[in-house]
Amino acid sequence: MEALEALVARHATRWFQARPVPRAVLEKIVDAGRLAATARNEQPWEFIVVTDPTRRRALADLTDFGKFIAEAGACVVVICRATTYYLEDGAAAAQNMLVAAAALGVQSCWVSGDKRPYAAAVLATVGAPADHKLVALLPMGYEAQAVPRAPKRALESVLHWEQF
Ligand SMILES: Cc1cc2nc3c(=O)[nH]c(=O)nc-3n(C[C@H](O)[C@H](O)[C@H](O)COP(=O)(O)O)c2cc1C
Repeated sequence: MEALEALVARHATRWFQARPVPRAVLEKIVDAGRLAATARNEQPWEFIVVTDPTRRRALADLTDFGKFIAEAGACVVVICRATTYYLEDGAAAAQNMLVAAAALGVQSCWVSGDKRPYAAAVLATVGAPADHKLVALLPMGYEAQAVPRAPKRALESVLHWEQF
């Protein structure tokens, strides 16, 4: 799929088929994450792919609006070393992975990481080093049912030439 087509195909999915996402597909998705733009090329990220159902359930239970992690074939936990730009870097990697997943027929839904009260518990659950931050949890799976797309602001309402 072309990059721009994948951007359009990507959308939040919270209902997943039971079938797992092959390891090779998950590797391609994470590979897209590691290629993201990153301040000073620090690449502070680590990607923990959780496929085990018990571990996924444990992650899901920690979140408030991410219970569907338990139903996805895998969950990519995006963590970053606490650099100055860890949040921007981690978010860039997460978005890369969402688009790459869509290009491969896999959908996801970003589940909040940084700023949430459960962040420390998630970090502990995945065995993250002490100086790392949780950026996002990205459940990955094959969409179980088509869902209405979130409305998007029109180009002419967000695009400003030269000045706001
Ligand atoms: C930083 C961030 C945090 C989010 N956290 C959650 C979350 O905890 N649970 C959830 O169901 N969706 C979460 N979302 C998904 C958004 O609700 C979704 O992206 C938005 O409604 C736009 O829909 P779209 O992704 O289909 O374009 C999050 C998205 C972002 C970017």
